[in-house]
Parts: sequence; C-alpha cells; structure tokens
Amino acid sequence: MDKPKVVLGVSGGIAAYKACELLRRLTESGHDVRVVPTASALNFVGEATWSALSGHPAVTQVWESVHEVPHVRIGQEADLVVVAPATADMLAKAAHGLADDLLTNTLLTARCPVVFAPAMHTEMWENQATQENVATLRRRGAVVIEPAVGRLTGVDTGKGRLPDPGEIFEVCRRVLARGTHSADLAGRHVVISAGGTREPLDPVRYLGNRSSGRQGYALARTAVARGARVTLVAANSELADPAGADVVRVGTAVQLREAVLKAAADADAVVMAAAVADFRPAHYAPGKIKKKDGEEPAPVELVRNPDVLAELSAGRARPGQVVVGFAAETDDVLANGRAKLARKGCDLLVVNEVGEDRTFGSTENEAVVLAADGSATEVPHGPKEALADVVWDLVAGRLG
Ligand code: CTP
Repeated sequence: MDKPKVVLGVSGGIAAYKACELLRRLTESGHDVRVVPTASALNFVGEATWSALSGHPAVTQVWESVHEVPHVRIGQEADLVVVAPATADMLAKAAHGLADDLLTNTLLTARCPVVFAPAMHTEMWENQATQENVATLRRRGAVVIEPAVGRLTGVDTGKGRLPDPGEIFEVCRRVLARGTHSADLAGRHVVISAGGTREPLDPVRYLGNRSSGRQGYALARTAVARGARVTLVAANSELADPAGADVVRVGTAVQLREAVLKAAADADAVVMAAAVADFRPAHYAPGKIKKKDGEEPAPVELVRNPDVLAELSAGRARPGQVVVGFAAETDDVLANGRAKLARKGCDLLVVNEVGEDRTFGSTENEAVVLAADGSATEVPHGPKEALADVVWDLVAGRLG
C-alpha cells in the first residue's frame, strides 16, 4: 500500500524549528511528507534541513519545477495538509483564499483534511481579525488547533505557543484515520470534564477517587481532531494537556461545577466524564489534623456536593445543547444505568463496569451508551479513544 501523503506547510515563525520534530514523527511512522515552507519560514529553518528530513526537495515558490505544475499537484495528491506553525498572516491568507506562494496555492487545491497549528504572540492571536479568520477556517471544515499557553519568544508568556509536536502529530494521525469527513464537529464548542475531584480535609489530606482522567482526555483529543473548539475541565489529572484544548484545572467538585457551568454557557455539548465526589467534608481544618494520644479519631462529617450533571441537564444553557454523563457501576450495570439516565435527565449516559482492576488508569474501556430515546450502543473492549469517537458520533447525530 502507498504511504499516506502529507504536506507539511511551515510559515515564518520561531516555532518553525519544532516542525522538524513533527516532520520526523510523520516520516518515522510511515508517511510520505512534502515540506512546503514559506519564504519567511526559511529564515528560521533552512531548505537543507527540510530536504534531508523529508527526503524530498522543499519547494517554496510556484516558479520552481514549473513543468510538474507543483502548485496544483501537491495539494491534489495530499491525504492531509498540516500547517505548523501557522502565523497570523498565514491564517489570514488561508481564510481569504489568497495564493501568492506554493503553500497558499496548495491550500486552495487541497481536497483533503487541513490542520492548522497556529503560533504567535498572544495579542496577535486574540486580535479580532485573527479570531474571525480562525472561525472562518473552522466553519469551512479545517481543524484549527488552539495554541498552548506558556513561554513565547523572549520573556513573554501567554497563549500562542505551538503545542508539543508529539501532540500535533496525534491530531494529524486521528484526522488522517477519519479521512475527508473528519471535521464533523467543526464550528462547535464542546466542554469535557475529566479526572477526579479531591475534597480537602486539611491542607495535606483529601477524600479522592481513582479516576486518572484518561477517558476525558481521550474525549478532548478526539474532539480536537474532529474540528471542535474544546474546553477541558481537568480535576487533578497528571496527564499532559491535549494539544488544541483549552484546559481549566480544578480541584474540588465546587470548583469543577463553577468551571463547567461557565464554559457550558455557549457550548453545543457538555460531557461529564469526571468522577465528581458526591460528598465533601463538612469542615475544613486550616491546620493539619493531629492525632492525640489515647483519643479515638473524630468521625468525618460529610455534606452533599452539587450534582453538576443533573444541574446541566435541568437548565440547558442553550436550546439543543447535548448533555452526556458517565456512570461507573459495579453491579446491575444496565439496570442501574437506565435508572441513572432517567434520574440525571441527560441525553446520553456512558455506562461502564468498574472494579479493582478495571477501567481506572487503563488505556482501554468497554461500555454501553444509553440514550434518552431508549436506544443502546454497545462499544466493545478497546482503546478509550474508540469509545470517545462513538460518543462524538452520537453527539454529532443529535446536533444535526
Ligand atoms: N456527577 C456530577 N456531580 C456529582 C456527581 C456525579 O456531575 N456530584 C456526574 C459524573 O460526572 C457522571 C455522572 O454524574 O457523569 C454519574 O456519576 P456517578 O457517581 O456514577 O453517579 P451518582 O449520581 O453519584 O450515583 P451513585 O453514586 O448512586 O452511583
């Protein structure tokens, strides 16, 4: 079988050096990669590096090898075009259909999925012109990965960093696997909660649970690859931020509720994959609780936490907003699941069986997704990403 053909477009930003790592990952995992740098990108990384790493000449202008009509052929033949880094200028050109060099021509002739990984200073990213260009590209079905937050060129920090090349590679892999119809969540905003809340007893102790956050992170990664704008509300997870998601870190159920409700205000779908503690200690001891010789420990008094899923379902922030819950059950999995779906009032409930050695921390899962319309979709044992894709299929179907 032919290797999948990937065009790596590189525009002129300091993050161009990180595209070398992305190129390596793509070629080492069996992709045939043509690098199309812009003229200004070559100020950061030279032609020799791109040619040596890709095994093809790196062409910038449409005037080179004209007999091969590269400005049409490269785009037409591609299975995926990924632009990393995509500067504000490149996003503007792409949004307006300008074609003044080989990369912009390639973007116009490509019939395959296109991924943009923007990198720029925070002010440029937040500028309304850039934001409108990004919205235009997303509406047309391109996957635009949200930049990461962190150190920028020089001493600045903020939103605008190119995400980790490994994470961009993962987005590319997923987009390629899904093919031309990959961006079915383009233009949608989805909110996902992940991980497990911790309810503090004192500054060093808490009541927690064993959720790793893997299923929620898999939902975030797959939603990014399907073109959605993603807000990930992460409770105490140690996993690396998924590329392209806005990550809001929280600790307790009360903090999680606040972050989820805020993000849900303009969301098309909310998926509650977090393990939220139903109870929290009634009293928080500001100093470490000490044992006292000869005294029995005081019982821990608990109070109820808000039920975020029930609250989201009862008061949808937008008409047609799809709300999805998860249920972890140890016995009578289906019967308990159906009862919970009715009680919580959500549209979909992903029910999985948990136990000492099952699901928690694992990269695999099996589940049945129950819907308010009475249907049930069984998802066989497999990667958490496969389950995530089934959830998004069902969500996308309900969004119409
Ligand atoms: N959930 C929530 N707020 C809570 C507790 C749970 O939003 N305070 C959400 C979880 O994110 C999950 C779903 O509700 O999507 C199911 O949680 P689960 O703990 O299985 O259900 P409970 O309502 O706690 O029922 P029980 O403990 O009786 O199984």
